[in-house]
Amino acid sequence: MAQQTFLMVKPDAVQRGLIGEIVHRFERKGFRLVAGKLANMSVEQAEFHYAEHKGKDFFGDLVQFITSGPVFAMVWEGDEIISLSRTLIGKTSVADAAPGTIRGDFALHTNRNLIHGSDSPESAAREIGNMFQPEELVQYERPIEQWM
Ligand code: RTP
Ligand code: MG
Repeated sequence: MAQQTFLMVKPDAVQRGLIGEIVHRFERKGFRLVAGKLANMSVEQAEFHYAEHKGKDFFGDLVQFITSGPVFAMVWEGDEIISLSRTLIGKTSVADAAPGTIRGDFALHTNRNLIHGSDSPESAAREIGNMFQPEELVQYERPIEQWM
């Protein structure tokens, strides 16, 4: 069943010139790009995005970091994309992020871990709505999908 997720290249990865590298990994996996834009997250958007972490000791730093520069926000679609994309991203803690994953290959610190991926369909819907208008999501056919 095709599913949508919200993936976001964080400010550290934008500064490091890793937008293309990260997008490439999801493209070559076979997922379908539905929307994408460079944007500055407002503090309100950042607090809404990370609402599940409100009250934790790292919440303030998280909001400060994610609003510290532009992000590349995206919507991607594919079967089981929420769990599959988090596998490509790698574990949250850089100590656990396996080589071959985005975090395993490029991240040195857990609080500079380059990319966000939704962790459930409910989170995905909330996070997509936080950064995109419905008309920004582009639907189209890709005949190649029958071979994936
Ligand atoms: P994200 O939401 O950013 O995609 O990352 P995630 O699902 O892998 O991890 P999550 O648990 O949602 O945590 C959000 C971000 O907060 C930072 N963090 N720091 N100091 C800590 O123990 C700690 N735990 C999480 C990480 O930067 C993580 O990406
Ligand atoms: Mg998370």
